[in-house]
Amino acid sequence: MRCGRLESVHRLPPVRIFSGIQPTGRKHLGNHIGAIRQYVEGQDRGDPAIYSIVDLHATSVAYDPAALPRYVYDTTAMVLAAGLDPDRCILFRQSDVKEHTELCWLLCSVTAHGDLNRMHQFKDKSAQQRELISAGLFLYPVLQAADVLAYRAHEVPVGDDQRQHIELMRDIAERFNAAYGDVLVAPEHRIPEVGARIMDLQEPTRKMSTTASEERGLIFVDDDEDAIVKKLKSAVTDSGSEVRRSEDKPGIANLIEILAAVRAVEPDEIEREFSDSRYGDFKVAVAEEVANYLAPVRERYGQLRPDEAALEAALQQGAESAREIASDTMVDVRGAMGIGAPRPA
Ligand code: TRP
Repeated sequence: MRCGRLESVHRLPPVRIFSGIQPTGRKHLGNHIGAIRQYVEGQDRGDPAIYSIVDLHATSVAYDPAALPRYVYDTTAMVLAAGLDPDRCILFRQSDVKEHTELCWLLCSVTAHGDLNRMHQFKDKSAQQRELISAGLFLYPVLQAADVLAYRAHEVPVGDDQRQHIELMRDIAERFNAAYGDVLVAPEHRIPEVGARIMDLQEPTRKMSTTASEERGLIFVDDDEDAIVKKLKSAVTDSGSEVRRSEDKPGIANLIEILAAVRAVEPDEIEREFSDSRYGDFKVAVAEEVANYLAPVRERYGQLRPDEAALEAALQQGAESAREIASDTMVDVRGAMGIGAPRPA
């Protein structure tokens, strides 16, 4: 009896993990700490852990068709450099698994138009569009829901900005199950406690983002040491001199958060250690540690990125495993919805 109880404490039920990452070319420190690092952690816990380079999502805003395939390779090499191993997880290109687009359409039947209209990311991105606000941008969260629900995943590691999209996919799964029968799993988000919101170095009230920031405000994962040190030394700090987080010191708070995330400790610990330091010395320390932290990733990226045949082979291997799981789900979804020829009784 006691033995059984112990076992149930130690052996957690298998958890299926899914996440998607945009093929936006270069990745920055916020992407790395907020999401990619969680992927690596998940690959030994996930049963399986499934990660997709979401090229279909990339078409929801204006993009360069000639560059997209290269961006997919950039991102593939980046996540492999960070520590993903195609033999310990499923890594694939979204468009290689047709089930995503099919399920996206079918999920539209249980998605509220009003909910899509309330999505922050839709509002932000549509405000930025100069010409066309595509229906694809509006449907983006439904495709994202399809990504996860096609694998009946339990857990979705993401950055803080994806909270609302995960809530929506839970609603979609629950509405689907209520309407058509218990087929899909409503997933939970997994958002890191430290480092989920890395801010722009020049405008620390804004999230670090490839689209919104000027180059000086961002640290790219493949920046060389000089660039990293220069950017962190010239990071905007606030008035005052104490290395301590507070509402009116977003610049220093961001650097504290960055160092805490890099060291995988609590921000309090950083404040204690640097309680007697001046801003200048603190910035130098952060710069050195961030540079050391990213150096091995940059190095591996440099080795992996040129071999496109190897990257493609890894993606194809992943697509095959992904298809197996997703096509199973689709049999149930189509059957439940009455799509296609009737199922044999
Ligand atoms: N929308 C996510 C982002 O911008 C990317 C994404 C696409 C995703 N499909 C997903 C994330 C499925 C988690 C699960 O970061």
